[in-house]
Amino acid sequence: MEQTFAIIKPDAVERNLIGKILEKIETEGFRVASIKRALLTVLIAEGFYHVHKERPFFKDLTKSMCAGPVVLLVLEKEGAIKAWRKLMGATNPAEADEGTIRKEFAVNLEKNSVHGSDAPETAAFEISYFFSQTEIIS
Ligand code: CMP
Repeated sequence: MEQTFAIIKPDAVERNLIGKILEKIETEGFRVASIKRALLTVLIAEGFYHVHKERPFFKDLTKSMCAGPVVLLVLEKEGAIKAWRKLMGATNPAEADEGTIRKEFAVNLEKNSVHGSDAPETAAFEISYFFSQTEIIS
């Protein structure tokens, strides 16, 4: 079973959307293999998003990820990486399809409510960045 990594971002946690987003995740057939709430520091956010460190939006992105608590998730499903990106919708909510989480809940490109790994290598890095093996129950 493929695993992917997801974050419910501060903008969604602040608006009490954890339950609504988890309901969509479970309805789509994902199993929650691990879940925890966390308050990221700037250093932790910078390490997590290191691939974007040269991008003009890096500082705002890392700051916004520390604006409040997040929910960190390991999700399992056949083809989980692609399936989670499909359920999230386009990074920019203005371009997100009907029925996606970002279409329904996201505010803008920065406050886009959820994050998901984009490839097997990033999923492996992102899962191990926040979870130890003993915290993941397949
Ligand atoms: P996420 O899937 O978490 O990955 C990187 C994040 O950077 C992205 O969602 C957006 O929230 C944020 N971001 C801000 N500005 C941009 C931009 N111009 N292009 C892509 N991502 C951006």
